Amino acid sequence: KRRAGKLEVAEPWNKLLLPALSLPTDPALYVGPFPFYRRPSELGCFSLDAQRQYHGDARALRYYCPPPTNGQSPNFDLRDGYPDRYRPRDEEVQERLDHLLCWVLEHRGRLEGGPGWLAGAIVTWRGHLTKLLTTPYERQEGWQLAASRFQGTLYLSEVETPAARAQRLTRPPLLQELMYMGYKFEQYMCADKPGGATDPSGEVNTNVAFCSVLRSRLGNHPLLFSGEVDCIDPQAPSTQPPTCYVELKTSKEMHSPGQRKSFYRRKLLKWWAQSFLPGVPNVVAGFRNPEGFVCSLKTFRTMEMFEYVRNDHDGWNPSVCMNFCAAFLSFAQNTVVQDDPRLVYLFSWEPGSPVTVSEHRDAPHAFLPTWYVEAMTQ
Ligand code: A3P
Ligand code: MG
Ligand code: MG
Repeated sequence: KRRAGKLEVAEPWNKLLLPALSLPTDPALYVGPFPFYRRPSELGCFSLDAQRQYHGDARALRYYCPPPTNGQSPNFDLRDGYPDRYRPRDEEVQERLDHLLCWVLEHRGRLEGGPGWLAGAIVTWRGHLTKLLTTPYERQEGWQLAASRFQGTLYLSEVETPAARAQRLTRPPLLQELMYMGYKFEQYMCADKPGGATDPSGEVNTNVAFCSVLRSRLGNHPLLFSGEVDCIDPQAPSTQPPTCYVELKTSKEMHSPGQRKSFYRRKLLKWWAQSFLPGVPNVVAGFRNPEGFVCSLKTFRTMEMFEYVRNDHDGWNPSVCMNFCAAFLSFAQNTVVQDDPRLVYLFSWEPGSPVTVSEHRDAPHAFLPTWYVEAMTQ
């Protein structure tokens, strides 16, 4: 690289004149030092109620309430209540960024970082970033992310791929029950009030959600993202969010070294990516037996998950995940140049291929709602 005054002259034919046409995802390309990642801070939160209505408060937050540790193992029947006490969210409704935009609209005047911070930021869901982090290691499911720039800010919103939609519509009954069981575990582990008791007799309504809104930065990309939080630990050493939050997970009981190895390689990667991004320090796993009963619990510290694969040649590497994510964000920033809420760049990825991009205008891909664009233009 040559320096000409303050201007960095490096591959100008690529970096300065033409946007790149695709982005490779091979892990080997992203090996290197861990990039800068700002300690995530919570800017606020919101809740979705049993009817999936937005409330700008913490009413849906639940409190971590593990069973007493008196030598007895838990015995949670995760299939109890299925399907009669199950109220699943309607997955046909594509919510895109709407609830998060609601929060941004309400708080745009008093965001920390000062006026102008939002204009330089990327706004998205934590779950979308999780998918980016795991992309270099993902061999099964592709993704599509729609991107628009509006008042400087880059918005990223996932689009369900045709394959994902087909899978959802033909989800086998056993998989549907397995989904229920993940939520049922939360009910056995959470109370509605701090110090309260759990109540597994009620319904499992997956419309209800508590979402934390966080600020961070990856490399030179300021981030504003929101993620669903399972519960808060009233006994946590620090009462400051996000460090008091707990992520709950279920997984199959493991009996062989091979099963453990595959758990560390696949599941722990997803668990790590999901909780590292918002700075959630602990993941509490309930291991279920073939009959669907959780008989053991184990707490995994997010910052220690990598140790399980550090010496595994086919393991994952947090630096690769974060470096790829940073590269994708730069790719998106350089592609989406025009500031226009009706212009959409669709980034598409399938395992084994690079990320590609296509340009679209208005329906069906435009995702910034008129109510948001108009209110922000006032
Ligand atoms: P488990 O992951 O414990 O099985 P989360 O863990 O992110 O809080 O999600 C709660 C539950 O929602 C999951 O519990 C699972 O049952 C269901 N779930 C989440 N993401 C899913 C996905 N992509 N496909 C199917 N089920 C999912
Ligand atoms: Mg959750
Ligand atoms: Mg969970």
